[in-house]
Amino acid sequence: MNTTPDDFDPIPSTRHRVTVGVVSLKQAEAEADALAVPVALGAEPREELGTNAAGLASAGFTGERGQTLVQPRSEGPVRVAVGTGAPDQIDATLARDLAAEFARAVPWHKRLAIEIPARDLGISRADFAQAVTEGVLLARWRYFVGKDADRAPLESLLVVAADEDSEEVGIGVERGMVIAAAYSLGRDLANCPAATLSAVRMAEVALEVGPPAGLEVEVFDKDQLIEMGCGGLLGVNRGSVEPPRMIRLRYQPDEPTGRIALIGKGVMYDSGGISLKPSDESHAQMKNDMTGAAAVLASMTALQALGCTSAVTGYLMCTDNMPSGSAMKLGDVLRMRNGTTVEVLNTDAEGRLVMADGLALATEEPVDAIVDIATLTGACLRTFGVDIAGVMGNNPAVVEQLRRAGDVVDEPVWELPLHRPYRSQLDSSIADLTNMGGVNAGSITAALFLEEFVDGHPWAHVDIAGTAQLPAPRAWRNKGATGFGTKLLIEFALEFARPTEAGSSTARP
Ligand code: BES
Ligand code: MN
Ligand code: ZN
Repeated sequence: MNTTPDDFDPIPSTRHRVTVGVVSLKQAEAEADALAVPVALGAEPREELGTNAAGLASAGFTGERGQTLVQPRSEGPVRVAVGTGAPDQIDATLARDLAAEFARAVPWHKRLAIEIPARDLGISRADFAQAVTEGVLLARWRYFVGKDADRAPLESLLVVAADEDSEEVGIGVERGMVIAAAYSLGRDLANCPAATLSAVRMAEVALEVGPPAGLEVEVFDKDQLIEMGCGGLLGVNRGSVEPPRMIRLRYQPDEPTGRIALIGKGVMYDSGGISLKPSDESHAQMKNDMTGAAAVLASMTALQALGCTSAVTGYLMCTDNMPSGSAMKLGDVLRMRNGTTVEVLNTDAEGRLVMADGLALATEEPVDAIVDIATLTGACLRTFGVDIAGVMGNNPAVVEQLRRAGDVVDEPVWELPLHRPYRSQLDSSIADLTNMGGVNAGSITAALFLEEFVDGHPWAHVDIAGTAQLPAPRAWRNKGATGFGTKLLIEFALEFARPTEAGSSTARP
């Protein structure tokens, strides 16, 4: 597959699969290398840990949430005390986080075991099993192309359950595996260097992973995009030697209960173009400017396996944004897919240009809700930091469904107001719009730009500029490009309910 020395496999984690099985405690004792033992804050640990609360305290372990302590052992799986804090109830977020901390505490152990607690949980056994499977697999994911790249330390996760629970637990394990595999794909893509993952290569990956997951994949090249009038995507691509691609993905269940369009920003590398970015830390992360497209593709690979009943169409808007003699100039005017003309006042505001064509295309087919996801504005990073994404839309029901999905999967999204008086900041004297608002409220003016292309359809925009990159790992989250949005979009699609007339009120100032 590799053609030059620096041409890497863009999706290495798809080569290595971890086995996850439901087993008895006896089997885990015989086969595992490490066993997690939850310990509540200040409580006596279970006997199998081989020590008591005083022993743990002497090593500085109190049972605080997320704390871990590996207990040396001469035979059998090592015990890892995992602090649970003092929870009122276990929820998926806690189970996922603690499983991830356990997996990180024993980074070289190959076979990990986690018990499903026998007592009544705050959540179903299936949800618990799903959460711990996600936590362990995502904590152990990595993208590395150096000397020990093929090191694959995790072989299996053994989920310990009573016989009578094993069927339910197995269902949760299966779901967790599907979600972790999808998220790993999203992370692989977001971390892959732009020199390897061009728009053309992104389309090849979609053709490779889409059909086995039940997706129809159509790839549109530059000539077709010219034919279609996608002036935004073509304008941004003008400075690049790499051709653009628009990739359309379709998931079509029998008798769909709803129709969703997902549009992902696929700027494979954002140099800023003629409005060149400074060579700072943020510029050095711009291979991740296609995280929206990665999250759309990755999430859609999970829909069939998870039994999604809504039809989903994905649009990946892929190109890089480069300066050159042929690049878009300030003052140029682009004509977008829906006929709107845009005066380009900053070539670094390229995301909204490629997304505009995708949104316009989405409105050309029957659709109940349009959701776009993009690393759109530095302002969103300033507003929410790296843990929370922004959401804005013309439809409270769609925004609320995204917010709820974010809660469930622990990819939080918070709403900003789509404050329409700011729309006048986008007025141009020679075209329908400019691509630049004023210095303030940059996330909001970017969303108002996008709204011009949805033709009144129920729509929400998720800005992941902050959450697409993390400076340090935490629980199941990785350092570097995060693939944020993959779980959010899966959960949104699975739970999607058509917005009703009442819920689709756009009566905001
Ligand atoms: N891809 C960037 C947004 C971004 C910035 C993501 C920092 C992650 C970290 C986007 O294309 C961009 O450059 N936006 C500009 C818009 C401005 C020129 C109106 C920005 O936010 O500075
Ligand atoms: Mn930019
Ligand atoms: Zn960008």
